[in-house]
Amino acid sequence: MQETSKVRETNLSPAYLRSLAGDIPYSREIANAINAQREYELKWKGDSGFFYMAPFMEFRYKSITEFVKKTGFKQVLEIAAGWSTRGMEMTEDPTITYLETDQSGEEISKKNKIVNEMLGGQRENLHLLQLDALTGTGLAEALKILGNKPTCVVHEGLLRYMLHETKAKIIENIKSVMRATGGVYITPDIITSDSRDQFPNLQKHFKTAAQVQSKALGIEIEKCFFKDQDEAQNFFEGCGLSVERHTQGEFVKSSSSIKNLESRDPKVEWKDVLKFVSNRPIWMMRLK
Ligand SMILES: C[S@@+](CC[C@H](N)C(=O)[O-])C[C@H]1O[C@@H](n2cnc3c(N)ncnc32)[C@H](O)[C@@H]1O
Repeated sequence: MQETSKVRETNLSPAYLRSLAGDIPYSREIANAINAQREYELKWKGDSGFFYMAPFMEFRYKSITEFVKKTGFKQVLEIAAGWSTRGMEMTEDPTITYLETDQSGEEISKKNKIVNEMLGGQRENLHLLQLDALTGTGLAEALKILGNKPTCVVHEGLLRYMLHETKAKIIENIKSVMRATGGVYITPDIITSDSRDQFPNLQKHFKTAAQVQSKALGIEIEKCFFKDQDEAQNFFEGCGLSVERHTQGEFVKSSSSIKNLESRDPKVEWKDVLKFVSNRPIWMMRLK
């Protein structure tokens, strides 16, 4: 699918925005190593309103981590990991096995090198592998690493850029991992138009973000969103999954990035941003 190769270019801004929270392990180091701030500034052309995206990234990152811990599963497969540092963070616990994957082999090799430098060598329980979630290239190798140990499959910032038909194909590949290993699928990638309508003060940020992203990806990003959570649930159920709905605010109670940014950028309506990100969904799904 045409849209996925362009989505590859979207992983630098989240790395920079996560580093602004200040308490996400390794996030500053990795953002520096890949010069993420420069890419972010080039892309958003100094529009500081986009700092509203920092708590958005912070909440989705932290809520996945906390949710995975709550499940008690000891193995994680992350799809479309980009420059996320959750693999490094979670494998500080030696009982966790973490397989980080992304579409681009080139980027995975680059990340592998940077991660090994940051950790002072290879960590036995952290694996990095090229895996294309759409075509399934790399899936067989991933399954070899995962074996039959129950696994949490996670991703963030992937389905928001995909049309529904592309989403469905990716979900088929995720289901094949769930069938082979058992376990659950956790994602905050449920973007609904109605949740945005509830925040008139944030409309200008949403609008500009959608414009910049649509231009970069060559698609109308709104076409990838669901109308509301019921429509999204019907879609995932139609793909053969049962859905357990949660909000990110159940897992993350405050925002470090807002604390760091509110004086720097008083134009942003931070109270609304906190409400928006706290209400955002994170769902756990199982095979029906
Ligand atoms: C917005 S970035 C998010 C990266 C990361 N999850 C984060 O939050 O920083 C989207 C990621 O999706 C990856 N991606 C796009 N298409 C993919 C595919 N078919 N299979 C696996 N990864 C894909 C890109 O390479 C990129 O790293």
